[in-house]
Formats: sequence, C-alpha cells, structure tokens
Amino acid sequence: MLIIFVGLPGSGKSTIGRQMGRRLGLPFLDSDAVIEQRLGCSIRELFEREGEERFRDIEQSVLDDLSHHHHGVLSTGGGSVLREVNRKHLRERGKVVYLRSTPEEVFRRLKHDVNRPLLQVPDPLGRLRSLFNDRDPLYLETAHLVIETGRPSVAALINTVIAKLELVGFDSPRTVRT
Ligand code: S3P
Repeated sequence: MLIIFVGLPGSGKSTIGRQMGRRLGLPFLDSDAVIEQRLGCSIRELFEREGEERFRDIEQSVLDDLSHHHHGVLSTGGGSVLREVNRKHLRERGKVVYLRSTPEEVFRRLKHDVNRPLLQVPDPLGRLRSLFNDRDPLYLETAHLVIETGRPSVAALINTVIAKLELVGFDSPRTVRT
C-alpha cells in the first residue's frame, strides 16, 4: 500500500507525509531526500552542475524505483508530474493525494528559502504563478484525491486526507472496522 503526495513546492508534501506516516505507523520516504542520498550532493548542486534535464532523468528513475518498492507514504518533488511516464507510474502504483495550494500561499512559506533552485529568480511569486498554471492540470490528472490546503493546521489536514482516502477505498491500518 502506497500513499503519494504531489503538489507545488511548499505545499506541505514532506511535512504532512512524514506526520501522516507517524500517525498511521507507516514508513515515510521523500523522493528528493532519496535522490540526495544516492547522489551524495544536494539537488541545488545537481541543478548547478548538470542542469535540470539531468535532475529530471534521475528523478524519473528514483520515482520508478520507489513507486515500485516502497510501501507506506511517499512525498515527491514538485516537478514529479512533468513527465507522462511519472504520472502513469504514480497513479497506477499508489493512491495519489494532490495538496493544492495557491501560488500566494506557497510564496508566503517559501519567500526566504534558498534551497529550491527554481525559485532563485528575481520574481519568485511570478515563477510560482506560472508553475501553478502549467502544473495544476497535471497534478489534477495524476491525483485520486485533491485537498485544498488553505489555512488548517497540519493535524486537521491529515485528518481530512485520511477520511477522504477511506472514501476512495484506502484501508487505514489504524482504523478499526466493526
Ligand atoms: C522542484 C521541486 C523541488 C525539487 C526540485 C525541483 C520543482 O521539490 O524536486 O528543486 O520542479 O518544483 P519540492 O517540491 O519539495 O520543493
């Protein structure tokens, strides 16, 4: 069983995924962290040294591997849905949850971030708006479930995710059925 989080950078995929894993007693992995471990360098360094396409190739092979072999909760990088093959693998192999945040919302969270190469530009909000326009249809196409993140607490969001996953046929390990 695999629950996969997709969404814009800063939408809370890793925070929510990690805490949800804890809540459900399931192992959690973050595909970006796995990429960094396997390469022994940061994604930022990889972008600088080898460019975005090289990163996307590595991301594709890591997503293929993790969506096959990992059981539990997986958070993915914001660009995981860009390649059709990734969208297909994620959707076929897990229950995909799109954490849908507005560009303004993620800008508030990320404006001081220096680790996301795509946002190191003069107009990061404009960049986030264009990422949202390009990717929102792809996240929607990949997801089994869409959660508008808005302002609720992490705990409230996790409750919503679990409740809605159950509606689409996910058996929560901590749910006692009578
Ligand atoms: C990217 C998002 C990042 C990381 C890389 C590219 C993107 O992950 O994979 O910098 O294309 O949106 P987060 O969504 O965790 O920031």
